Amino acid sequence: MYSEKVLEHFRSPKNLGELEVYDGVGYVGDPGCGDHLKVWIKVDDDRIKEIAFKCQGCPAAIATSSMMTELVKGMKIDEASKITDHLISVSLGGLPEPKEHCSNLGASALRAAIDDYYSRERLKEDS
Ligand code: FES
Repeated sequence: MYSEKVLEHFRSPKNLGELEVYDGVGYVGDPGCGDHLKVWIKVDDDRIKEIAFKCQGCPAAIATSSMMTELVKGMKIDEASKITDHLISVSLGGLPEPKEHCSNLGASALRAAIDDYYSRERLKEDS
């Protein structure tokens, strides 16, 4: 039921773990299924230099989180904020219809981490 690409990212997730030093962190949970995802980003020169995630969820949630980190690593932060759940899903060769919602976690947690990054930057400017 899953594509080869989904299985590959599920079995060997990329950028799994957590960053000790980071510029933004985002957390989202899906109230429907209880899965949750936390994403850390390190930003340098307006680019996502490092990214890591921890996910407690289904195989699709883990695979889409992993794919999301691969897509945005090295990307300009404003471009990364436009990454959609659809792009993540397509990059994995698609998800079975009942699992389409799982890709929301990756896109939402990334946006939360980017929002956190901007909030921290504003705080630095204000101080
Ligand atoms: Fe909840 Fe996949 S079933 S994220």
